[in-house]
This record gives sequence, C-alpha cells and structure tokens, in this order.
Amino acid sequence: MRSLLTLVASAASATAAAPYLSWLADSYIQRGVDTNFHYATGVLYDGIAAAYELTKNESYADWYKSQIDAIVQDDGTIVNWKYDYYSLDDYRMGNNYLWWYERTGDAKYKGAADVVREQLNRHPRTPTGGFWHRDPTYPNQMWLDGIFMADSFYARWTRLFDSDNATAWNDIVLQYDNIDARTRNTTTGLLVHGYDESKTAVWADPDTGAAPLVWDRAVGWYFMTLLEVIPVIPESHEGHSRLVEYFTTLAAALLKTQDESGGWWLIMSEPYPGADGNYIESSASAMFTYGFLKGIKLGLLAADEYLDAAKKGYNLLTERFVKVNDDGTLNWEGTVEVGSLSSNGTYEYYISVPLASNDFKGAGPFMLAAYEIETL
Ligand SMILES: *[C@@H]1O[C@H](CO)[C@@H](O)[C@H](O)[C@H]1NC(C)=O
Ligand SMILES: *[C@@H]1O[C@H](CO)[C@@H](O)[C@H](O)[C@H]1NC(C)=O
Ligand SMILES: *[C@@H]1O[C@H](CO)[C@@H](O)[C@H](O)[C@H]1NC(C)=O
Ligand SMILES: *[C@@H]1O[C@H](CO)[C@@H](O)[C@H](O)[C@H]1NC(C)=O
Repeated sequence: MRSLLTLVASAASATAAAPYLSWLADSYIQRGVDTNFHYATGVLYDGIAAAYELTKNESYADWYKSQIDAIVQDDGTIVNWKYDYYSLDDYRMGNNYLWWYERTGDAKYKGAADVVREQLNRHPRTPTGGFWHRDPTYPNQMWLDGIFMADSFYARWTRLFDSDNATAWNDIVLQYDNIDARTRNTTTGLLVHGYDESKTAVWADPDTGAAPLVWDRAVGWYFMTLLEVIPVIPESHEGHSRLVEYFTTLAAALLKTQDESGGWWLIMSEPYPGADGNYIESSASAMFTYGFLKGIKLGLLAADEYLDAAKKGYNLLTERFVKVNDDGTLNWEGTVEVGSLSSNGTYEYYISVPLASNDFKGAGPFMLAAYEIETL
C-alpha cells in the first residue's frame, strides 16, 4: 500500500506531465475495450479521437483504427449487424465510420455508414414521422437519447453525400421539432426523458404522452446532438435557427440548474434536486460542461455568461470523478449505468439504478470537455 502522501504526490506530478485527456485515453487503451458497435463504445472513441486531435500522437489513431477495423469488414459490411433490427442506439457508431471515411477516404467506411443510413429508410416511425426508439420494444416512443444516437449521424451523412436533399434535411429537423415540442417544459426550459405518441406506456401523460421526469443524461445527449447538428445543417434551412434556439434555451436552463458544487442532479425536475436518494451524477455533468465550452467555441453562447460555470463544472469533474489508481492509470467514477423508459419512469426507479466505474458514457464526454479546456 502506498501512503496517501505518495499517491497525492504521484497524482500531482502525473497531472503536470499529462493532461487528463491523454492520461484517460492511455488508461482505457491499457485496460482494453471490446470491439462492437455499442453506442457507448462509439462515445469513448469520440474521446480517443479528441486525444488524437490534441496530441497528434499516431498511437491513438492506430489503436482506434484497429478497433473499428475489427467490426468493419473489407466489403463495408458490419460484423454482427442485423438488417431487420431497428434500434437507434446501434446507429450512433455511424459517426465513427464517417470519421474514418473522412480521414482515409477508404470506401469500406462509407459502406458501413451506408448500411446504417439505409436502415434509417426502413426504420419504423410514429404517426407524425418520428423514429421509434426501438422496434418492437418501444413502439411510437421517442426518447431524447435516440436523437443523439440517430440524427447527428443522419445529418452528417446527408451533409457529406446528399446535401441537396431537402426531404432529408426536413426529416432531420422534424425529429428535433417533434421531441422538443412534446418533452420541453417551457417554464423551466428543461426536457423530460421522452414521450409516447400512442400515450399507452405506463409512464405516459394521458394528454401529451410525455414521461414525467427530467433525467440528466437524456438531456445531456440532446444537448450534445444539437451541437453536432447545428454546424452541419445548411444555415439557409428554415430549421437552422430553431435548432439554435433549442440549444441556447436549454443552455440557459442548465445554467440555472447547475448545483453550487458545479455539477448537476440525476433527476433535475422539481422537487427532486437535493431530495433523498438524488445525487450529482458525473456523465451529464461532463456533457453539460462540454456543451457550455463547445457552445462558446461555436459562438452560440457568450463566454461572459457561461465560461465561469463551465470551469466550475470542469473542476468538479476532475476533483470528484477522476481517480488515480495505484498503478498510475485513471478511473472515471460516478456515472449511472442506465436510465430507461422500459421502467415505470418514477423517481424511485431512476435513483435505484447503480453507478458504474469507468463507464464510457461519462468518460467520453469528459474527454471532450478536457479537449475544449486544453484548446480554449
Ligand atoms: C503516444 O501514445 C502512446 C500510447 O498512449 C504512448 O506510449 C507514447 O509515449 C506517446 N508518444 C508520444 C510522443 O507522446
Ligand atoms: C432523400 O432523403 C429521403 C429522406 O431520407 C430519402 O427517402 C430519399 O431516398 C433521398 N433521396 C435521394 C435521391 O437520395
Ligand atoms: C413545468 O415546470 C414547472 C416548475 O417546476 C411546474 O410547476 C410545471 O408543472 C411544469 N409543467 C409541466 C407541463 O410539467
Ligand atoms: C417503480 O419501479 C421501482 C423500481 O424500479 C419501484 O421501486 C417502485 O415501487 C415502482 N413504482 C410504482 C408506482 O410502480
């Protein structure tokens, strides 16, 4: 056992030697990451890509490529892909295939992205045109999570290969319009987890179909996807300014609900912040911190309103959720494993879900925030 002092000293010298971004990237690479097309894996890869962008260290790109090449075959098909299974979660990795296509021009990555894009053409929809979160499990339901999983990719693919297709742009904006109109509380600016257009789910409001509670990570996914789609959709499209408004009004709501610690509560709607069982959750705290920083960089948010809050958030992330292990690797802590509308949607459900160590869904966004801090 090393003494606390030695640990603190080695942590301090390691901090000086390596920014958190590459330190965390190295830690994940050392621990090993399963090769699959799970969205959480894709989110970690976004963090690895950020480490590469920051350091230009080819080891990161080489590792990332070997991971992707384990699932994208030479003919552009995807290992274990099911052409008749419609789950938005599985589409998220499409962004990573496109990252590799843009970097290398290798047709196999475009092939993999096309597999996902064509799946969208067949994906079941609600009566008003929203993609179901999953078929057959969540019929007629849209969740904020699903917008991040599918529509950032849909927009990026359209920008690259089909930018004159007005039908596609309209369809993309429709997804955001639909969910924003039905999940946002216009008083608080926050959005509940999702809605059921058929209003039959156990948690659905009988009039609106809306879920009852604001779950932090769902809001985090939505905040992040708005940052991904806004730079990609043509500014001339009539939906562009609406997407900007969705983002800036949500940012204002997040500024108001940031806890004095610098983080955000798992359940964000009243009367739950500070309630028994609720806690400051790390994945969404990382997403909101990242979103403030990136929003400032993109010129969507004013630095004099958001930068202090972002730095406060970042300090909390590094002080509370990043832990140095005895072997010198880093752990990421405090991320709730899941929050699902397969549940009864109650406060008791959300707070009953355990926390995970080294969860990619928190670590990836933290790495993106670290990149923004390093490049302010
Ligand atoms: C690049 O990253 C690898 C893997 O993390 C590390 O071992 C190596 O020292 C890094 N190289 C440089 C020049 O920083
Ligand atoms: C344009 O986008 C729509 C909606 O995604 C799609 O159904 C259609 O096939 C696209 N048209 C072309 C010519 O690619
Ligand atoms: C919106 O939030 C306010 C403040 O928490 C609350 O009083 C109101 O009931 C909410 N509206 C809806 C439609 O849930
Ligand atoms: C909802 O589910 C949670 C567990 O996930 C349970 O503790 C709670 O009692 C349930 N509430 C209702 C109203 O069914």
